[in-house]
Amino acid sequence: MLPNLRHLFDIPEDVAYLNCAYMGPLMHKVVEAAEKGARVKAQPWTIKPSDFFETPEKVRELTGKLIGCSADHIAVIPSASYGLAIAARNLTINKGQSIIVAGEQFPSNRHIWAKRAEETGADLVTADGQDLTEAFLGAITADTAVVAASACRWTDGRVIDLEKVSKACKDVGAALVLDLTQSLGAMPFDVKAVDPDFMVCAAYKWLLGPYSSGILYVAERQWEGSPIEEGWMNRAGAENFARLVDYSNRYRHGARRFDMGEVANFAALPALCVALSQIIEWSVDNLYLSLSRRNLELAARASTMGLLPVGETERAGHFLTLGLNESAPADLVQKLAEENVYVSQRGASLRITPHVWTTEQDIERLFSALKKYL
Ligand SMILES: Cc1ncc(COP(=O)(O)O)c(C=O)c1O
Repeated sequence: MLPNLRHLFDIPEDVAYLNCAYMGPLMHKVVEAAEKGARVKAQPWTIKPSDFFETPEKVRELTGKLIGCSADHIAVIPSASYGLAIAARNLTINKGQSIIVAGEQFPSNRHIWAKRAEETGADLVTADGQDLTEAFLGAITADTAVVAASACRWTDGRVIDLEKVSKACKDVGAALVLDLTQSLGAMPFDVKAVDPDFMVCAAYKWLLGPYSSGILYVAERQWEGSPIEEGWMNRAGAENFARLVDYSNRYRHGARRFDMGEVANFAALPALCVALSQIIEWSVDNLYLSLSRRNLELAARASTMGLLPVGETERAGHFLTLGLNESAPADLVQKLAEENVYVSQRGASLRITPHVWTTEQDIERLFSALKKYL
């Protein structure tokens, strides 16, 4: 179990911030890295050509360490939707085939597939139910072209067994695309065991990184794909600024061709590196264990108030979602915020996502506010 690490964050004592699934806070040292990076641009003569490439490489290496692959598999992107657009652009989808998504899947991982279905004449199929793994397994057929999933649903934390879904995809030759924005950094993920074609993650939630940064994993079998942008930095030889007009027809190695334009964000990427290094040092296994234990305690206490959590075995450990009954005030989240308790509501569920900064005092504040309004 990790100890309480509130001192690493800028969260006042009287604020119960239980909303990592909405936005992970930056640690003090992450803010310092971002500030230092922003100041570099005040003195552009200090920016060397190598600075354009070294920090993105560091992001690749750290992400590789986190999920178990080499830096060559990682592209640096601004958002989950950007990475999903790359996946959708490069996968073959034919008329009459299916693209499977979960019910209530996050819009960034649904709109793009609905559009591709419309463009290709494929069917967009929704997998839903109490057991999302079974729902996906039941929906996959010989006609499935793509399964677009996550490890845990953003609304209620329901888990999807990605190794099982991946095996079913491979059995029928379907591609697997993952959006791990709501799990990577808090829930263990072994990319070799799951072997998706593409995996995206926005960094501003459980990776505790800055907004407008994210990572894209690309399996080697997809390395010959087309990027969305044809920028100068994704081409072989880009390091030699004097020779950029010797236009290169070759891309840089591996997933680097998929990097976003202006990938060398001098403020955001150093900050992301500090956040990733810290998560690796804590270890995702330890984080998951610590957050799961905390949420189990919260679930038991909430049950005594008639707030029913999604069951332990169906829910990712780092998520706690409590079913609200109809008598709950429509503005419950705002009312709780007035008590300095920050959570989210998604559908009829209250989504509570504490982290290593959460103290016993935060928990007492949460329950006394819930008692007041429910
Ligand atoms: C599951 C999931 N994916 C992605 C995102 C963010 O998407 P994007 O990076 O496209 O803004 C969110 C934000 O809430 C999310 O919950």
